[in-house]
Amino acid sequence: MAYENIISDYQNGITTITINRPNKLNALNKDTIQELHDAFDEANKDADTKVIIITGSGDKAFVAGADISEFADFSVEEGGKLAAQGQALLFDFVENLGTPVIAAINGFALGGGLELAMSCHFRIASTNAKMGLPETSLGVIPGYGGTQRLPQLIGKGRAMEMIMTAGMVDASHALSYGLVNHVVEQDELLGLCEKIAGKIMRNSSVAIAEAIRSVNAAYKDGVNGFEIEIESFGNCFGTEDFAEGTTAFLEKRKADFPGR
Ligand code: COA
Repeated sequence: MAYENIISDYQNGITTITINRPNKLNALNKDTIQELHDAFDEANKDADTKVIIITGSGDKAFVAGADISEFADFSVEEGGKLAAQGQALLFDFVENLGTPVIAAINGFALGGGLELAMSCHFRIASTNAKMGLPETSLGVIPGYGGTQRLPQLIGKGRAMEMIMTAGMVDASHALSYGLVNHVVEQDELLGLCEKIAGKIMRNSSVAIAEAIRSVNAAYKDGVNGFEIEIESFGNCFGTEDFAEGTTAFLEKRKADFPGR
């Protein structure tokens, strides 16, 4: 599919989606959110794509937030609709994808940018990255899941401080908070993401999809995560990957998972 605001590139089992509005520090406007939805959907449906990496173009920003110029004159109703549509189309969508999504945070990840990174299954940052939820400095609050996912990832007190101060944390601070898993120099960022993706790809993609579903269940209201885990565990026993994985172990060879 042809995109205007993003680039989607497939290589060796990995689809890398790059948000490509460097002159606007990759800010998320409506069209970009729709294109990201389409690209994630396409990659998730592609049986060859085992891992998705999302990053920003240029050396300055992952995403500097939602595009402020698009919502500056919105009403109460329009504001609510903006958040609801964005959450459904992109942020909840990414979190619940069966294909693992790694955020490669290559610079500023602010507002909607940090919210997008937090929707991904885990995050890796470059040393120059700066992360924050500056919305209260604009008279608004995070609306793409930030008030929910930041406390899940770093704890309530730290999240409250970041949201109330609208301040930024640097990469080493984010690492100590557990907001990102690793920090590397910018020119090593995609390489590390690809190396970790390579480790993921050796494993059963159907088991990984069930694991994502089960881990996510721990954070859903009204859902018993242990029951989802039991169901997901059981589902694995009906897959060709399970037959291959256990047979390969018993035959003392490496598994060659069909991904079914
Ligand atoms: N929405 C719309 N445009 C944005 C943007 C956003 N969230 N973030 C950056 N831009 C645009 C700027 O308006 C500027 O465009 P212009 O050259 O046409 O004027 C361009 O990106 C470059 O940004 P600039 O502010 O000149 O870069 P900087 O290096 O001086 O500052 C930031 C970088 C990230 C500190 C600053 O851009 C910023 O504070 N952005 C907004 C962050 C934010 O509040 N995000 C949450 C939104 S809910």
